[in-house]
Amino acid sequence: MFNVEEIRKDFPILQRKINGHPLIYLDNGATSQKPIQVINAISGYYMNHNANVHRGVHKLSEESTYMYEEARRKVAKFINAEPEEIIFTKNATESLNLVAYTYGEANISAGDRICTSIMEHHSDFIPWQMLAGKKKAKLEIMNVNTEGEIPDSEFSKISNSKITSIVHASNVLGTINPVEEMGKIAHEGGGKILIDGSQSIPHMPVDVKKMDCDFFAFTGHKMLGPTGIGVLYGKKELLEEMPPFMYGGDMVIDAKVEGCKWNEIPHKFEAGTPHISGIIAMGAAVDYLNKLGMENIRAHEVELIEYAFQKLQGIEGIEIYGPQEAHKRVGVIAFNIKGLSSIDLASFLDDYGIAIRSGHHCAQPIHDFLKILPSARISFYLYNTKGEIDVLIPRIEEIRRMLS
Ligand code: ALA
Repeated sequence: MFNVEEIRKDFPILQRKINGHPLIYLDNGATSQKPIQVINAISGYYMNHNANVHRGVHKLSEESTYMYEEARRKVAKFINAEPEEIIFTKNATESLNLVAYTYGEANISAGDRICTSIMEHHSDFIPWQMLAGKKKAKLEIMNVNTEGEIPDSEFSKISNSKITSIVHASNVLGTINPVEEMGKIAHEGGGKILIDGSQSIPHMPVDVKKMDCDFFAFTGHKMLGPTGIGVLYGKKELLEEMPPFMYGGDMVIDAKVEGCKWNEIPHKFEAGTPHISGIIAMGAAVDYLNKLGMENIRAHEVELIEYAFQKLQGIEGIEIYGPQEAHKRVGVIAFNIKGLSSIDLASFLDDYGIAIRSGHHCAQPIHDFLKILPSARISFYLYNTKGEIDVLIPRIEEIRRMLS
């Protein structure tokens, strides 16, 4: 069952003291901490199995290949996809760029429309902005209302577009977008939909078949896995027709002076030696999440969001961005306090061992659109507790009194 105190014992870093205080880690939107099971998967691989994959007939290479492909099967099952629909990349940024550089390059022409939103992370904004510029296409940007949600009136931008790329859950507003509905609209208009799931998949169940999305991008390091490993899900028929992203070993099955024949999917998109240990450890992260249950993780985080909102709202001069109802958002809570810079707040909290993020969170367009200063952001994960929020709030109050 879901027992936070027991879960915390699996995370060695949570025992650390920072500046003499127990670590309170509230920067999970940037990266999550890792359980011992994931750390052991990395060291266990290097101690016992290390060899390159798909390239040898010797025992170690066979073991590595099996473990690598087993991780792919785990990730596929986790999102209800087929293993060949899972491409390993280095992060969500690469997954998103992969679609822009391959599907986008091949299918977008002058005068076409590409739809995205004002709440995107730079990794899901700039690739489309660049592609639109290069192809002389039009970038349609869906805006948000005062609640931090995309109103239905913006959805016509989806139906008119050849591809829509939209974040599932915003890393600033926390807003969970109605991606299923958006996908239906995209498909009715003859377009495709790519979902950036970096901030959703660590925190809630995701089923790409139910969503009926064409592509789904995410990263391992925000869901207990190591850094340097990302995933792109793509519908089989789309991946098959797309050109490769990078050229090199393993993505080619026949390389002749006269020309080349590409390997089948997913290998066509995995040029060069991959991050083998990272991918195997990501499989361990998926096992860990499955053991706890994504529904249980979501329920725990909704409780934390509700509790944090209740407490934060009592702070004088605070403005919290995004939907105020917990079920409409994930556990990233960005805010500003009148007269207090987010950087000052974050660095003073660090003095007390509390890690939060400050700045634009690689999402400057939404800050500009809302005409707000760089914000402070707390973000939860499965090991956070109400007790940590009880330590955080008086510290914020203290810093506000001192500095604002
Ligand atoms: N995209 C990450 C964040 O929001 C790094 O912090």
